Amino acid sequence: MCGIVGYVGNKNAQDFLISGLKRLEYRGYDSAGIVTLDVKGEPTLLRAKGKIANLEEKLAANKRDDTIGIGHTRWATHGEPSEENAHPHRAGEIFLVHNGIIENYKELKEHLTEHDFKSQTDTEVLAALINSFYKDGKYSLINAVVQALKLVKGTYGIAVVSCKKPDEIVVARSGSPLVIGIGHDETMIASDASALLGHTKQAIYLNDGEVALVTSNSVEVKTLNAEPVSAKVEEIETNLAAIQKGGYEHFLLKEIMEQPESLKETLRGRVNLEEGTVRLGGPGIPEAELRQIKHLVIVGCGTAYHAGLLASYYIEQFTPEITVETVIASEYRYRNAYIPENSVALIVSQSGETADTLACLREIKKQGVKTIGIVNAIGSTIAREVDGGTYVHVGPEISVASTKAFTSQVIAMVMFGLTIAQAKGVKPAILKPYVKEIAKLPEAIHDTLENAKGEVEEIAKKYVDYEHAIYLGRDTAYPTAMEGALKLKEISYVDANAYAFGELKHGPLALIDDRFFEIALVPKGELYEKAASNVQEVLARNGHMIVVTNVEQFDLPVERVIRISDEIEHFAPLLMNLISQLFAYYTTVAKGYNVDQPRNLAKSVTVE
Ligand code: M6R
Repeated sequence: MCGIVGYVGNKNAQDFLISGLKRLEYRGYDSAGIVTLDVKGEPTLLRAKGKIANLEEKLAANKRDDTIGIGHTRWATHGEPSEENAHPHRAGEIFLVHNGIIENYKELKEHLTEHDFKSQTDTEVLAALINSFYKDGKYSLINAVVQALKLVKGTYGIAVVSCKKPDEIVVARSGSPLVIGIGHDETMIASDASALLGHTKQAIYLNDGEVALVTSNSVEVKTLNAEPVSAKVEEIETNLAAIQKGGYEHFLLKEIMEQPESLKETLRGRVNLEEGTVRLGGPGIPEAELRQIKHLVIVGCGTAYHAGLLASYYIEQFTPEITVETVIASEYRYRNAYIPENSVALIVSQSGETADTLACLREIKKQGVKTIGIVNAIGSTIAREVDGGTYVHVGPEISVASTKAFTSQVIAMVMFGLTIAQAKGVKPAILKPYVKEIAKLPEAIHDTLENAKGEVEEIAKKYVDYEHAIYLGRDTAYPTAMEGALKLKEISYVDANAYAFGELKHGPLALIDDRFFEIALVPKGELYEKAASNVQEVLARNGHMIVVTNVEQFDLPVERVIRISDEIEHFAPLLMNLISQLFAYYTTVAKGYNVDQPRNLAKSVTVE
C-alpha cells in the first residue's frame, strides 16, 4: 500500500527519496512523487503515474542539490492512478504526503472553498485544511497540522513540509505507521523501516495520536493535545541482506526457498525435543490462566486467515475441551460477536499493520478479552497493541504473496495450542509426536523444496493455458487447499478456488470440464480412502487432475502425481503447501507476469 519517505540533513534529498521509495515498491503502488525544497524554500515537485522509473525520467531533467524533501508511492483509493492524484499535494506554501483514508473529506471539503482543488483525493483536502490554519501565520507548521488533525476522522500517517520553513518536516500518525530514523546531522522518515536501512539503525516508532517536529538534528514528539512525549529510540532489527534478492530472480522464490531457515528462526529456543514440550515466552499467560482457556478466536486476513484455519484443526486435535473459531477480520469487526468467558484471541498478521485485523484487535480488547499477536514485523502496530505475543521471526517478506510467513504462523499457533494443552495436563504421549514433527519440519521442508522444484516447474508449464483451477482437500488439507488457490490466483490471475472434498457433490462438481484443472491434496491418514473416492468422482467426469500426496502406492489414473516424503505425518499439508507455492510461482513466471508485485494488490493493506 502507500509508502512515505522524508529526509532533512546535509545530503542530497532527491537521492534518498528515490532510493527509499524503491525500497517501499514491494508494498504495491500505482504512482509516485517527491518534493524537495532549496535553502530559500523554492520547491521542486515531481510526480508520475506508474513505476518509479517514470519518476526517475522526470528527475533526470530536474536534478537539484536540495537537502530536505518528502516522497510517496500511492496505491489509489480516492481517484484513479494519475499524475494529478499522485502525492505530494500542495496547498498554499505546504506540501503533504499521506497514507490512510480521511473518511470525512467530503464534509471538510465543503468548507475549504478558497482552495482550488486539482485532484480527486482525500489527501488534497487534508493539505487544504492544514493550509487554512497555516496560511495567515497564526499557527506554526506543527500547530497548523495539529489543528487540522483534530478535525479529521479516519486514518493517517503524514509528512508535511513548508516553503516557509525549509529545514523542518512535520509528521503524525493515527492508524498508519511512521518511523523516524536518527542519523548524524540527518533525520529520515519512512512508513516502513526498510527504507532506512543502510542509513541508520536508530529509530523512533511514532504511536497513534502523536505528532513530531523533525529537523536534521532534533525530533520533538507530542500528542495532539500538546503533551510532550519522551520518545524511545529503538534499534532497527532488519538488515540490508534480508531485503535484497540474494541471487534469486524474484523475492517470491527467495522467500519460498528460505523456509527451512525462517522456520528454524520461529522455533529457536522454543522446542525442547528431549521432553517433547514447547515453551513460548511472549504470550506471558500464567499457567493457571492457560488451564482455564476454553475458547480461542483466531483473527486474520488472506493468508493469515488460512494459517489460523489450519492451526485450528491441529489445536482441536490435541487440546481437550476447547473450541477454536477462525474468523476473517473484515467480517468479524462488524459482527458484534460475543466472546465467551475464558477466551483468548490470536491476532495473526505478517505485517502487523493490516487495517481490518487491527480494528478487530481493538474491538476484542474492548470486551476485555486477552489478545495475543502472531506477528512478523517487529514493532508494528498490532505487535505493540496486543497484550502479549509470539513473533514468528521469518525476516522481511517482500513479495506481495505471503509464503514463509504462512508456514511459521501455523507452527507458532500450533505451539501456542501445545502450550495450552501442556498446562491442561494432556499426556506427553499425545503431544510428543507433534513436537517431534515440528522439530523435523525445517529439514523436511528443505528436502521437499529441493526434490520438487524441477518437477513442479515442468508441470506448471504444461498447465499454463488453463484459466480455471480447483484446489481440493479434506481436514487439514482443506485450509491448505484454500491457501494454494489464493497463491495461484493472486499472482498468476488464474481463477482458482478451493473446496472441501466433501462439498464437491453439493455444487462444485458441476464445474468440471476441459477448461478446468484440479489440484488435490491427498495426505495419508484416516480420511485417505474418502479423499481417494472424491478423486474418483472427479476422474469419472473427465477431470484434469494433479494429485499431491505422501501415499506411496497412490495408483489412481490422474494426469500427474507429485509425491512428497511420508516422514512427516501431522504436518504433511505444510509440505503440500510448498508444492502449491512453487506451482503458483512457476505458473506466473511462465505467463510472464510480475511475480512480486501482482496487479491491484499491496503487501500491507493499511486501509479498510
Ligand atoms: O500482513 P498480513 O498478514 O496481515 O496480511 C494479510 C493479507 O493481506 C495477506 O496475507 C494477503 O492475503 C497476501 N497477499 C496473500 O499472499
